[in-house]
Amino acid sequence: MTHPAFAEGNVAVITGAALGIGRAAALHFAEMGLKVCLVDLPTDDLVTATAEVIAKADDAANIIAVPTDVSDPDQIKKLEKAVREKFGGADILLNNAASRAGRGFDGDIEDWRHLVEVNLWGVIYGTRAFLPGMRDRGTPAVIVNTGSKQGITNPPGHPVYNLSKAAVKSFTESLAHELRSTGEENMTAHLLIPGWTTTGKNEHRPGAWLPEQVIERMLQGIEAGSFYIVCPDDEVSEEEDRRRILWGAADITEDRPALSRWDPTVEHAYHAFKP
Ligand SMILES: NC(=O)c1ccc[n+]([C@@H]2O[C@H](COP(=O)([O-])OP(=O)(O)OC[C@H]3O[C@@H](n4cnc5c(N)ncnc54)[C@H](O)[C@@H]3O)[C@@H](O)[C@H]2O)c1
Repeated sequence: MTHPAFAEGNVAVITGAALGIGRAAALHFAEMGLKVCLVDLPTDDLVTATAEVIAKADDAANIIAVPTDVSDPDQIKKLEKAVREKFGGADILLNNAASRAGRGFDGDIEDWRHLVEVNLWGVIYGTRAFLPGMRDRGTPAVIVNTGSKQGITNPPGHPVYNLSKAAVKSFTESLAHELRSTGEENMTAHLLIPGWTTTGKNEHRPGAWLPEQVIERMLQGIEAGSFYIVCPDDEVSEEEDRRRILWGAADITEDRPALSRWDPTVEHAYHAFKP
């Protein structure tokens, strides 16, 4: 890994690290010789994941878990303090925790509110808590926020999840621009955009990627200097992602109905569309 933030002994903080993509990142980073702080709700899954990550590390003292609800700004401040006291600060931050509650337009309004607090405000709190320390250190740093294709193409079915991920995209684009325009060349921000990935405790199904594949793609993307790190899966190719993204953007420029990809009156046009 050539991005200097990933130097051996550097410190990575990962939210949503008990399961799925976050857990895969924690395992991979420990194998790379990084110090890792696993962040998740105080569950048995966090305890189990932490033990698994310690087993991959050279030194158990390099791995800590800080149970934290990322939707609570006070808990995030305590997390930042804990990382600073234990490791001196963070070089890598993965704002990755997410909720999927509140599906549908009639989903419970409290679930909607909570989802936005976790998926969007959790990313904002995390970034705002760790960024000043990264800047003070003046050493190379990386912030990766996990978005979703649903935050770009906005498929029907889970409007509040989509809007939270669209907002994460917007926030992270602004962050990347800010870091570039202030000349902080050693500090980069990236939007990780997984495809269909088997996570949580779900059974792996054909078509999905494994979380480890997403992390490998993420590291390749960071190394290549990509801001948008779009992962395909075994069902949706990079070419198909490209069509979907360009078609969605052209809904605006071509004055088509919103989400025209799913509109039966224009669907045939999408199938014929070749970017
Ligand atoms: N799996 C996919 O197909 C897929 C696709 C696109 C994007 N994503 C995104 O990738 C990221 C990781 O997803 P995953 O599939 O690995 O999910 P997952 O459900 O396996 O893991 C998410 C983790 O976040 C934790 N979490 C939830 N609320 C939290 C809170 N308030 N505070 C702290 N931790 C909390 C959960 O406990 C869990 O361990 C998410 O941002 C998700 O939206 C996943």
